[in-house]
Amino acid sequence: MQNNFEKNNYHNHQPNFFQLRFSDKVFNQFSRFIYEQMGIHLSHSKKVMLQSRLTKRLRKLKINSFEEYFAYVTSDTGIAQEMPNLINAVTTNKTDFFREPKHFEFLCNIVLPEFYESCKGRKFKIWSAGCSTGAEPYTMAMLLEEFSVKHTGFRYAILSTDISTEVLDIARKGIYTHEMAQSIPTTLRKKYVLKKMGDDKRPLIQIVPELRQKIKFKQINLMDRTYSTITDIDAIFCRNVFIYFNRKTQERVIRQLCHHLKPQGYFFMGHSETIYMKNAPIKSVATTIYQKK
Ligand SMILES: C[S@@+](CC[C@H](N)C(=O)[O-])C[C@H]1O[C@@H](n2cnc3c(N)ncnc32)[C@H](O)[C@@H]1O
Repeated sequence: MQNNFEKNNYHNHQPNFFQLRFSDKVFNQFSRFIYEQMGIHLSHSKKVMLQSRLTKRLRKLKINSFEEYFAYVTSDTGIAQEMPNLINAVTTNKTDFFREPKHFEFLCNIVLPEFYESCKGRKFKIWSAGCSTGAEPYTMAMLLEEFSVKHTGFRYAILSTDISTEVLDIARKGIYTHEMAQSIPTTLRKKYVLKKMGDDKRPLIQIVPELRQKIKFKQINLMDRTYSTITDIDAIFCRNVFIYFNRKTQERVIRQLCHHLKPQGYFFMGHSETIYMKNAPIKSVATTIYQKK
């Protein structure tokens, strides 16, 4: 006897997604295209993950094969309309408030006092590149706001960018699960976090509007040849992004990001990321913290 899925499938001539074949050939085509467009290197071990994520898109678009989906997403119309969905399907967005706290200690104890000594009324400019759903820029915002309360005249601007429009939408809203807020120190949580109830009655939190307004969110693909007119940045956090890039892309992106740093500006990378670059424009000053030469 046929089950319901088989029956409906047979009668409606709908694509049977359980039988879609994701050949090595088509995986390699996607992998090459994703590398060219996003810099993300997908090894063969990611084939099952990619197949499962793309199947959802095929289902939504009622497309019958991965070959057909590949032709669509690489066409002019597809690049305009489907590319954001492919990006969302491919990127990994794990993040946390106060992730890798040593970086934030360095920011508060070294970078900010140094800047304040010599700023002559200039705004402190910081960039979270590859910000995911926003925990990193909101952590910065809480600390910079605290610093500004204690240091008369200190002003700051936070730029927060990612390739994925989906994570940027979440970041703009600043709504997170109650569990995620647990890594925010209690005193800061009391000041900058509001309690909220989800539609399903799940306890959520939202970052206060005063802090949300302090951050400029923008889509930027780090693979682009230029990053618009962002200049004289005092500190760039580009953490846990380079792990997806191969060495050649890492070097190119680091060089390009450094163009936007002011001399002696700081560059923070994830704790599991190291760079071995010939003639790097930055020098190491602490574990995974660099300074523009
Ligand atoms: C694992 S998250 C890291 C988030 C945050 N920086 C942290 O350390 O908690 C990596 C982020 O890099 C973004 N990303 C990947 N490739 C990118 C690219 N080519 N340009 C810009 N962002 C990219 C992903 O969308 C994802 O949100």
